[in-house]
Order: sequence, then structure tokens, then C-alpha cells
Amino acid sequence: MIHTEDMEFAPRVVTPENTAEDGDNEITLRPQTLNEYIGQDKVKQKIAIYIRAAKGRGEPLDHVLLYGPPGLGKTTLSSIIAHEMGVNLRVTTGPAIEKPGDLVSLLTGLSDNDVLFIDEIHRLPRPVEELLYPALEDRVIDIIIGKGPSARSIRMDLKPFTLIGATTRAGQLSAPLRDRFGVIERLELYSTSQLTDIVRRSAMILGIPCDGDGAEEIAGRARGTPRIANRLLKRVRDFADVMGNGRITKEIASIALSHLEIDGLGLDSLDRRMLSMIIKGYAGGPVGLETLAAAINEEAVTLEDVCEPYLMQLGFLGRTPRGRVATRLAYEHLGLTEPEKPDGQLEL
Ligand code: ADE
Repeated sequence: MIHTEDMEFAPRVVTPENTAEDGDNEITLRPQTLNEYIGQDKVKQKIAIYIRAAKGRGEPLDHVLLYGPPGLGKTTLSSIIAHEMGVNLRVTTGPAIEKPGDLVSLLTGLSDNDVLFIDEIHRLPRPVEELLYPALEDRVIDIIIGKGPSARSIRMDLKPFTLIGATTRAGQLSAPLRDRFGVIERLELYSTSQLTDIVRRSAMILGIPCDGDGAEEIAGRARGTPRIANRLLKRVRDFADVMGNGRITKEIASIALSHLEIDGLGLDSLDRRMLSMIIKGYAGGPVGLETLAAAINEEAVTLEDVCEPYLMQLGFLGRTPRGRVATRLAYEHLGLTEPEKPDGQLEL
């Protein structure tokens, strides 16, 4: 028996963050070419042109910054870029590069035109970030040898390379770092029809029989995020195996997702708690993010990065200078009635 207190520590099935369980799944399901990659059409078209141009000139691709909510395929897109460029990909994250020396060994280990992918690039320590500037701009690094008055700096040339930085929060990137990326692209949440295609593709690769309606049911509740869609596919498969004949139908998908407490629009209990608190605890808002996070005992960054993009896309949540507000659609979704607004007050 699982106690509700223990459940608080279990990752949400709809968390867009990468979890240990996603590991193998993500790699098997990851498309390898731009043609196989579903969605993000505008970004894909531009990147295809930049890749052709760079390859034609025998140069590395310009440095690329990808930003947007987690789980939308920033790492996947980077591995496709490396694959299409015909070069190696080296993957790391901002917090893993603790010291300037770590960055030096990463950069000097690259071959011509290789791609270095740094996830969560907004979390690079400041001294590492500063070492990166001349590397990006002039392909050189300045290494300090020795300490104190006898310290000297040696300039080292690097091979041509492409940095792909990924972040959920472009606003937190310092201007000097942001300015050194030639290509800056925002990834958008996926439509249900794109996610349906992704679920069908994943089901085929994993050998899971899945009806079109079943795939659409999963897609419609995956909050615009392929990583969540693929995770739900695996969970629904368990229900299909145990409660049905292994085939994912609309009905099985719907039963499974209800068991997972994911509602018809993909909201889970955290999303609903957040909206309910704004409505019931703060009369619909506005309420500051930190206050709200404390009231429901959750981290503000989780609410901001994970809940808000989707709730805002659904038109359930508004952000104002004075805080978050629940919209009429949110009241309706939770089966609540919005109080009458005094005359003259703008409706959101
Ligand atoms: N799997 C995860 N993201 C995908 C995408 N954008 N296209 C195809 N398969 C995917």
C-alpha cells in the first residue's frame, strides 16, 4: 500500500524532466534525422538550411541556443544536428562543468566541427562561463598557469566546433553569453496531432499494438510534451497488458490515464492543486508565485517551469505584474463558478 505522504516524493508521471526510467526509452525512440523528427517545423526548416550551408562551406554550424519548456526535444535536436553534420556529439550539463579546467578538457577533446551540447546552460558557474566567451568568439582559451604574482596566461587555439546550449530559462542567461550564439530558437509545445504521430511512431518502434484513437487519447493528455507522451505510452501499455489483450485502445488509454489521475486535458493533481489554491485560497488571484508555492508546499521553479507553460497555453492561468490569476476557463474546468466581477474590472 502506498501512503499519500510517500507519493509526494514519487516523481509525477507527467513530469517533463528526464527521469531515470526514461533513459533507455529516450535513446531508442530518439529520431536520428530531421525528416524523422516530428513537429517544430519552423525551427527544423531553418536548421536544415544552416546545416546545408555549413556543410557546403566545410565549416562548423554556428553556435545554437535552444530554449523552451523541458521535454520538448532539445537534446534530441542536438543529436540530430550532429548526425546530419556528420560529426561527433559530446553531451554535458551546466552544473556538471564545475571548474574552468573541466571546460578546457571538454573543448580540447573535440575534433574538427564536433558539437558540444550543454544542457541547462544557465547553470554554468561564472568562471566557466567567462572562459567560454573567447572560445565561442575566437576559438581560443586562455589558461592560467601557476598562482599569485608568478601566474601567467597562455592562449590556446581550439579546433572549429559548435556549441549547442539548451535552457528552460533564456531570461536567466547573461547578455554576453546569449550574444555569442548565432542561432537562437525557441521550441514550442506540440499540438495533439503532432503528439499523436509521435505516440504512433514510438508504439511501432516498441512493438506495442496501438489504435489511432488510443494514440490520440494519450497525446491529448501529454501536455504538449513528447517526453510525457512516450512515458504515458509505457504506463498505458501496462494497463493494456493486464486489463485488456495488450492492444492500446481509446477506452484502455482513458481508464489508465484516470488511474494515473491525469484528467481529460492532461492536468495532474499538482496542476489542479495550484489552480484550486489560486481560486479558493486567493479568490482567483492575483497571488505572487512564491506565496502560492509555499501555500501548496511546492518549489516555485517547478510551478514556473513545469505547470505554468501548459496552464497558460490552455488559457487557464494569467501572469500579471501583481501575480498569477486563474481565468474563467480554469474555474469552468474545475467545475467552479467565477464570482461576479465589480463593474469596470477587466476580465482576463
Ligand atoms: N520522440 C520524441 N520527440 C520526438 C519528435 N519530435 N519526433 C519524433 N519522435 C520523437
